[in-house]
Amino acid sequence: MRLDKLLAHTGYGTRTEVKKLLKSKVVKVDGVIVKDAKQKVDLSQQVVTVFDEQVEYREFVYLMMNKPQNCLSATRDRDYRTVIDLLDEDYLMFDVAPAGRLDRDTEGLVLLTNDGKLAHEIISPKKDVFKRYVAHISGELTASSIKQLEVGVEILDGNNESFITKPAKLNVIGPVNDLTAVEICITEGKFHQVKRMFASVGCKVVYLKRLAIGSLQLDETLALGEYRELTEEELACLKEETTH
Ligand code: URA
Repeated sequence: MRLDKLLAHTGYGTRTEVKKLLKSKVVKVDGVIVKDAKQKVDLSQQVVTVFDEQVEYREFVYLMMNKPQNCLSATRDRDYRTVIDLLDEDYLMFDVAPAGRLDRDTEGLVLLTNDGKLAHEIISPKKDVFKRYVAHISGELTASSIKQLEVGVEILDGNNESFITKPAKLNVIGPVNDLTAVEICITEGKFHQVKRMFASVGCKVVYLKRLAIGSLQLDETLALGEYRELTEEELACLKEETTH
């Protein structure tokens, strides 16, 4: 891999900052000062140091993205842009993929990682990791509908077989224009699940945004389409939740 890429990926700043580091002669490969950003290095064979500190290559990357509408939470698609298309090329080499899917018209939190084990545990309904959404719905949401949704409703899965949803938590936030804003937390992620749950009680989801996956909350400073790496604390909490 190119030396500048390696340093950018291991926390030594942007490519421009890395260039400055190289110019200032503090980067060594096997003890020899290297200034050429394009030099290829292989950490399994060579030792790279910055200010005489050894660079450790990291295997996993964890990103949170605020997915916009009209963007697929897939790795590639012929017709639509995907969350991967929004990534800076520096992240592409890590082969990250979205952990779980959001519909094309759903906005909000997507976790992108190449840590397959964590991704699996987040998605697995067995782990009971809550996903929190805000839905703007039309139609009357009665107290009895809320109760039904919280206990479990019968919906059809993709194969036209019906199943009962696991218990959900609902919190009516209030009116938004002619609609009602409701927060809903579920632990499953069946196809169009939130939309179909509301449809089962006669309501229609007009807008949907995911706000959280377990303890991981969408950073509201991220504009639609923006992303950032998880902090160490965010990652530790998420791992803690999924490892029991
Ligand atoms: N439920 C839905 O209906 N759509 C999503 O994108 C996520 C959950």
